[in-house]
Amino acid sequence: MKTYKIAVLAGDGIGPEITREAIKVLKLVEQRNEISFELLPAPFGGCAYFETGHSFPQETKEICDQADAILKGPIGLSHEKSKAIPVDEQPERGALLPLRRRYNTFANFRPVYLPKELAHFSPLKPEIIGDGIDLIMVRELVGGLYFGEKQTGINDEGLRYVKETLEYDERQIRRILHEGFKLAQKRKKILHNIHKSNVLKSSVLWNEILEEVAEEYSNVEVINFLVDAAATMLCLNPTQFDVMVMENMFGDILSDQGGGILGSLGLMPSACLGDEKAYYEPSHGSAPDIAGKNIANPYSMIGSVAMMLENSFGMDKEAKNIWAAMQNVFGEGYSTADLSKSGSGVKMINTDQFGNKVVEALVKMPITKS
Ligand code: IPM
Ligand code: MG
Repeated sequence: MKTYKIAVLAGDGIGPEITREAIKVLKLVEQRNEISFELLPAPFGGCAYFETGHSFPQETKEICDQADAILKGPIGLSHEKSKAIPVDEQPERGALLPLRRRYNTFANFRPVYLPKELAHFSPLKPEIIGDGIDLIMVRELVGGLYFGEKQTGINDEGLRYVKETLEYDERQIRRILHEGFKLAQKRKKILHNIHKSNVLKSSVLWNEILEEVAEEYSNVEVINFLVDAAATMLCLNPTQFDVMVMENMFGDILSDQGGGILGSLGLMPSACLGDEKAYYEPSHGSAPDIAGKNIANPYSMIGSVAMMLENSFGMDKEAKNIWAAMQNVFGEGYSTADLSKSGSGVKMINTDQFGNKVVEALVKMPITKS
């Protein structure tokens, strides 16, 4: 029997409770298919710092090194708690960015998916949503401003100043563009290239490389969009987009807007792929304000499991089943308190009940050997 090792980094805040539900789904997938998942839990994030003195401890690095895939929950602490941690050990800088760098997970896929069962969560009007939103943002994840050299100090005028650099080389740009084109080729053969070449030289180079790469994908139509205009169009006409490709910071911001048009970042799972290793995580933070209340929807974490099955283990059909199972649960009118107000006509359930309902729905789906 095939065995896969999965490092499980439950993270902070709502991380452990939504991870628990994702694991229920993984266990069912294991039972239904001739496959075994060896789950390797490891501390990561703010909780790891308080336990071990490091937010990405050596022990966790070793577990991730030997894993076939990494399932990661959200990390981060409340503003107050974060301040108790030295700046460089704070979970985002001390754990998440180092994880991305360690495994060079340059390609981040963030689906913004609003089928009819979820349409009521969106703040957009029905005429804008139309038949639903189904787009994927492809974000470069290990370059640009977030990883560039940083300097702080006092300038010649005696003022505190900061300098951060946005650097990309053509290899980094080319490889993420290939990911965008390959995905566009599998989907509607339209690629929206998001840039800011009217101001940034980095976008000028990006677009230059794009023209070269495009020659290898003659059946894909490229539509160029300035990032600020793309932000507007995501609200006014999101259904025009299918695959959008962009550099790191543009992707960070626009993908949160993606969560906004769905109605919640809680509906945003993601896949972070490198050449040798991949990890999967919700696109949102750890929501410390609702942690431990059993009200966070586990959709983004279970969706991340679906993305892991598809991308790391080639189990495409089972991944589709998981998406469908989650839609069934919403389609039956269930929701959780983080997504819906009570009295809004939904049948309110808790985090664990939502996980159980997804499992029940998945059990009923035909077993598809992947
Ligand atoms: C994300 C997050 C991270 C990012 C933070 C937590 C460092 O916002 O994955 O989008 O900016 O990449
Ligand atoms: Mg973000």
